[in-house]
Amino acid sequence: MQMVKNLISLNDLNKDELISLLDFAENFIDADGKFKKDNLFPDKTIANMFFEPSTRTKCSFDIAGKNLGCSVIDFNSENSSVAKGESIYQTVDALSLMGVDLCVLRHADSVISELAEYLPEMIFINAGEGSISHPTQTLIDLMTIRQLKGSIDKLKITVVGDLDHSRVVKSFIEGVSNFSIESLTFSGHPSMCTNYMDPVIGSYEPNLDLAVADADVVMALRIQHERFESDLSLDLDEYKHLYQLTTERVSMARGDAIIMHPGPVNMDIEISETAYQSENSVIRNQVANGVAMRMAVLARFLSQ
Ligand code: CP
Repeated sequence: MQMVKNLISLNDLNKDELISLLDFAENFIDADGKFKKDNLFPDKTIANMFFEPSTRTKCSFDIAGKNLGCSVIDFNSENSSVAKGESIYQTVDALSLMGVDLCVLRHADSVISELAEYLPEMIFINAGEGSISHPTQTLIDLMTIRQLKGSIDKLKITVVGDLDHSRVVKSFIEGVSNFSIESLTFSGHPSMCTNYMDPVIGSYEPNLDLAVADADVVMALRIQHERFESDLSLDLDEYKHLYQLTTERVSMARGDAIIMHPGPVNMDIEISETAYQSENSVIRNQVANGVAMRMAVLARFLSQ
């Protein structure tokens, strides 16, 4: 199947390509739940370029690349010549000249499309673009939902949290748009959901108790303190009272509802520790699926 050259947005994939990646990722998990190691790409070099902090995405791409037999460069932006003023374009060009085949890039600004145009010989995988998009996180989330619920169709899905700053929710909307879900409900503090009051897809419900009622999937999102332009003057006790995902609230969802969070979690802020640890929680499954999905993404995009 012919795919786009770079993974910049989920909108670049059609439904068949997206489902094919969900299927492909399952192949990298063995019967014991361990990640397979295949020396499939010993002649390929990938660079992990993270200009914003990361644990899950960066480490899982690192493990995924090594599991596939690639050489993996852990590019440290703070100790690189970027700190001496070199542009990101010159930086990626230099890596390309040294033989890097693929860049996994996380950046606060929307630089990846322009880079892909400027350096057509390089393959780019978006590992988080400011508040714009995080396509591989959504692939992981869809993989996790499909594993636990059997299908993504016909589900009632609720997303709660700091939606305005979330790249995860934007990619998630792109991803679930390929499926016939029953409903998509957004909830959260009105000051963090200004762009979701009248969404193109789904609806906004300010009352979290009503938003989670009968849901099959409830995804909590982190308050992204680092992205607020002014100090976040929030009454945390009131926030938790109204918008924290608790076991009491989860009990209003369907009995077999799954609780998701892309991480990292502000524990006991957007989600209570008991809800995080409850049997409905699949948050740790999401982290583990990150390796298999990123193996699938790297293998697919290195194979063109
Ligand atoms: N979900 C996610 O992108 O986590 P990290 O910031 O730890 O990579």
